[in-house]
Amino acid sequence: MSKTENVDIVVIGSGPGGYAAAFRAADLGNKVLMIDKDEQLGGVCLNRGCIPSKALLHISKVITEASHLSTIGVSFPEPKINIESVREYKDKIVSRLSGGISQLAKARQVETIRGEASFLSNTKLSVKNESDQTEVSFKKCIIAAGSSSSMIPGLPAKHPSILTSKTALELKDIPKTLLVIGGGVIGLELGQVYASLGSSVSVVEFLPALVPGADDDIVKPLKRKLSKQFKSIMLSSKVVSVTPNDQNKLDVVIESSDGSKELTFDKALVSVGRKPNSSQLNLDSTDIKVDENKFIIVDEYQRTSVNTIFAIGDIAGNPMLAHKATHEGKVAAEVASGHPAAMDARVIPSVVYTHPEIAWVGLTETEAKQNEIPYEKGEFPWAASGKAMILDAQQGKTKVLFDPETKRVLGAAIVGPLAGDLISEACLAIEMGSDADDIGLTIHPHPTLGETFAAAAEMYTGTITDLYVPPRRGK
Ligand code: NAI
Repeated sequence: MSKTENVDIVVIGSGPGGYAAAFRAADLGNKVLMIDKDEQLGGVCLNRGCIPSKALLHISKVITEASHLSTIGVSFPEPKINIESVREYKDKIVSRLSGGISQLAKARQVETIRGEASFLSNTKLSVKNESDQTEVSFKKCIIAAGSSSSMIPGLPAKHPSILTSKTALELKDIPKTLLVIGGGVIGLELGQVYASLGSSVSVVEFLPALVPGADDDIVKPLKRKLSKQFKSIMLSSKVVSVTPNDQNKLDVVIESSDGSKELTFDKALVSVGRKPNSSQLNLDSTDIKVDENKFIIVDEYQRTSVNTIFAIGDIAGNPMLAHKATHEGKVAAEVASGHPAAMDARVIPSVVYTHPEIAWVGLTETEAKQNEIPYEKGEFPWAASGKAMILDAQQGKTKVLFDPETKRVLGAAIVGPLAGDLISEACLAIEMGSDADDIGLTIHPHPTLGETFAAAAEMYTGTITDLYVPPRRGK
């Protein structure tokens, strides 16, 4: 069936960026249409990314914590994993959240259509699914079409033993041996899930460190933990070839400075980054410009090179993070509705939801050194925190970088349980221009991990109670 629609604002994509944009635009009085090619609203994050992976990481964390309890006199039997029930638990969370988005869309009178959107011009889109074709004329458009997993050229991508984050999260089975290609966020999070569920996991990372981008000292406690959980972590190593053998396993050639070796794995997860979904939108029929990596070029108002078309989230550039997309979605909706708004966030936090978690925001020490940016730091080792000791998290650490002149927070990094939750205080401190005294003099509840943020500031100001730091002259 062929239909036509006329709307104020059309949003392509219903992920955390798309639905935030659509809902804000509707709240501001626009007639809004949201398009997604999936049956369930919520995009990759909700259906095949953040939410299902964190549901599985929760299970992984409880297994680890239960095993720790056995060292302090509380023993449980070895966990029995019913993979179908685990899958159901994860799927139930996803469908409940996705249903919530549908209800919120209805409540706001945001119309939704399922289908693939492609541009016909700077003011028109076509949306197709198996049964319908809709031509949409719009005053404004917000593109929130996201990204998909990158593949290594030459790899048999369609082979059932080659997993992406999407298929790994389907949790079809638990392979005896799993090779994770790429030691970034997805590789380590999903590697840890599969290791807890019983796979023997090996990781190959091209660069000399895991989680490139995070400071080494913050990654160290995670690496120590993973070295026990994983069979091997191969750094500065490269997968040269992956060949399925006649038992449906994968023969993998891995090269490093020590030479090359061939290993066999039941499955391999390819987690070597993601690429923007810009090539699926027929952008050639518009005046929208993309950069050399196919990200849509936008200004601080999230406007593309076409004044009435906006782009947000993964498709509009790094970092590819849901919370960045949500923020940009609201900015785009407000600008498109004639309100004064701009993407002027000072910082965007990063979190790896492994056990222990790592989180960082703003300036890292590595960046400061590379770019000769002056900084001083306050560092609080969790070995001195009662709460961390209770949680068996003494390896954790909270580090805050300060501007030596103003004592304002430039950046922070945390490793330990709930680091992803704790980093929010650093985000607020940076946004508000807080200095070391503001943080140290704010009363934090005791005993909590949150206290470690104030303690790091007190390490810097020399007012710490729970550690002895010889006084620094002039402070
Ligand atoms: P990533 O960029 O985090 O990590 C990819 C890793 O693969 C890098 O360390 C890179 O050096 C390595 N690599 C690249 N080519 C390789 C090769 N041929 N052999 C071995 N190693 C190779 O990308 P990832 O983990 O795929 O995640 C994609 C995106 O999704 C990221 O932008 C991330 O921000 C986002 N994401 C965020 C999450 C979170 O916030 N917790 C969770 C999952 C994904």
